[in-house]
Amino acid sequence: MARAGGCRQVGVARAGGCGAAMEIPSARWYRAIGERHSRRRFEPRPVEPALLARLVAVCEGFRPYDEARAVLVARPADEVLRGVVGSYGQVKGAPAYAALVGRTDSPYVHERLGYTGEAVVLEATSLGLGTCWVGGFFRPEVAARLLGVAAGERVMAVIPLGYPGPRSREESIMSGFVHSHRRKPLAELTARGAPGAVDDPARWPAWVRAALEAARLAPSAMNRQPWRFAVSAEPAAADSPAGVDGPGGAERPAGAEGPVWTITVGVAGGRQTGEISRRLDCGIAMLHLEVAALAHGVRGAWEPLPPPGVARFWPR
Ligand SMILES: Cc1cc2nc3c(=O)[nH]c(=O)nc-3n(C[C@H](O)[C@H](O)[C@H](O)COP(=O)(O)O)c2cc1C
Repeated sequence: MARAGGCRQVGVARAGGCGAAMEIPSARWYRAIGERHSRRRFEPRPVEPALLARLVAVCEGFRPYDEARAVLVARPADEVLRGVVGSYGQVKGAPAYAALVGRTDSPYVHERLGYTGEAVVLEATSLGLGTCWVGGFFRPEVAARLLGVAAGERVMAVIPLGYPGPRSREESIMSGFVHSHRRKPLAELTARGAPGAVDDPARWPAWVRAALEAARLAPSAMNRQPWRFAVSAEPAAADSPAGVDGPGGAERPAGAEGPVWTITVGVAGGRQTGEISRRLDCGIAMLHLEVAALAHGVRGAWEPLPPPGVARFWPR
C-alpha cells in the first residue's frame, strides 16, 4: 500500500499519497474546479499533440497510489462506450480518453482511482478540453484488451476527452435529468453532531471552507454527491496516526499555533445504487479538497479509513 509517510518532500506540493512524482499545480487546477462541467458531445477533430502530451505527463506523473493508474488512449472513445439511445451515459465523438485501471485486491482502489482520474479531468479542463467520467456505460473488456491490463487489474471507468462541441438537445436533457449543476448545501454534507466535529462553519479557517466548497463541486455518478464531511479541531500537539505525515511530525512549521484542523471524508449511509462505487466519487472529491487546500497554502496527507469512512485529511 502506498504510504504517505514515505514521501516527504519539504517545500514541494505533492499529492497526498505516496510516490507522486508530480507537483499538484494547485492554482491552475483550483481554477479548473470552478470551470468544469461534464461534456458529452465533442468536435470531430483530434486533440493537438502538445495537449495530448500534457495529459500523458499527468497520467504518468500523477501516480500517488500503486493500485490505481490512468492510461491515455488516443483513439476514439466511442470504441469503448455503450451508446444506448436516449439513455444516461450517452457520450459521443470524443477523439481520445483516459482509461482508469485499478487493482481489485486493494480495499482502497475505488477512492484512489477517483483521486487519480480526477487529476486528468482537471488538467484537461485547464487545457480547454471537455471531459465526462463514464463509470457504467462502457465496455471494460474492450478497453482491457486494447491496454493489455495485468491479471488482478480491471478498467473501472473511462474519461472521454476532446474539444467540446455545441451542447446538443440530448446533452441538455441529460444534464437536466440528473440536475447536473445542482449541489447539496454544505450544511447537508457536513456531519452534524459527530463526535469531535466542529459544526459551526463560522469557526472553520478559510482554507477549510474553500476545501469543502471545492469538494462539493466534484462530479459524481448521477450527481448523487455521496460524500459526507466532518471537520475537527485537534489539539496542537496531536500526533497524526502512523503512516501519515501529520501535524505532530517534523513538517509542522516551527511555532505553528492553534488547533490542527482535519477533514474526514465518508460515504453517506444507504444502499449502494448502481454498479459504480460511491467511494470512487469520494476519491474525486478528495482531490478537489486537497487542491483547494493547497491553493490556500495548506499541504496535507490522507489517512485511509475503514468503511463507512474513506479518508482523513491532515495538514502538515
Ligand atoms: C464515476 C462517475 C461516473 C459517471 N458516469 C456517467 C455516465 O455513464 N454517463 C454520463 O452521461 N455521465 C456520467 N457521469 C457524469 C455525472 O452525471 C456528472 O458528473 C454529474 O451529473 C454532475 O455534473 P457535472 O459533472 O456537470 O458537474 C459520471 C460521473 C462520475 C463521477
